[in-house]
Amino acid sequence: MDPTSLQRLVFLTSLLSCSTNQARLTVTPSSSQVFKDERVSLRCEDASDGWTVMRNTSIDNRAECGVNWGTSAGSSCTIGSSDPFENGVYWCESTEGSTSNTITITISGGSVILQSPALPVMEGDDVTLTCRTEMADNLPADFFKDGIFIGTESAGHMTLQHVSRSDEGLYKCSVQNRESPESRLSVSEKPTTTMDPLLRHLVVFCPYCICTYIVVSLYRERATGNDSSVSVAMTPPTRAEQGLDDDYDDVMSAVTTELQF
Ligand SMILES: *[C@@H]1O[C@H](CO)[C@@H](O)[C@H](O)[C@H]1NC(C)=O
Repeated sequence: MDPTSLQRLVFLTSLLSCSTNQARLTVTPSSSQVFKDERVSLRCEDASDGWTVMRNTSIDNRAECGVNWGTSAGSSCTIGSSDPFENGVYWCESTEGSTSNTITITISGGSVILQSPALPVMEGDDVTLTCRTEMADNLPADFFKDGIFIGTESAGHMTLQHVSRSDEGLYKCSVQNRESPESRLSVSEKPTTTMDPLLRHLVVFCPYCICTYIVVSLYRERATGNDSSVSVAMTPPTRAEQGLDDDYDDVMSAVTTELQF
């Protein structure tokens, strides 16, 4: 294998590993509101080393977990009761500056919270909102959307069935006239969320096939040498070089396509 082919392979491989490494932030418990003394775990999933959890709050921007808040362990971060409680927008960031999805978490100092999904829910799903108090669960609760009363639930749970984009908004609840903070419910459209992973897998899978093909054809080229009876049936050296350039362009356009997502 000559040095330029080797360089190309190294370049392609690093491009591919960059383009496939898109971290996703998840939170446990999966709620956009928690009580002040509850422990919250944030995790950068599908992330290699070098991704950290960051947050913006009203007092600090782009603050890294483990520096002035939270306890960092690899690509995870835990917020304990000893941390100054702050509402914030959280995300994962790589050392190269790539970012994940964001999650807004409201840490309530009050006695009532609304448990609603921290991540966008999919169109058509059933979504349960739970009104919790520090004293007891399952108390009768009033629910509000965008400040408007939408109903009372005797056990404190409201289920929105087959949610659509029109269910998006700011929700809150109240128990015995004590109100929770408000949190946004986001609903993502079904077609895009079901298409995206499929497309992404195709785009990611193809370059790997092409890479394998390049390696195999380069290997064959070397292995068969000038044995014409084999190289005619398989891949003659000049043809392989030509193919390499075409494949290189294919991979580049595939990678470019993915980066535009
Ligand atoms: C965090 O704050 C920085 C600086 O104000 C801003 O540029 C960035 O967009 C914020 N990020 C999020 C996710 O809100």
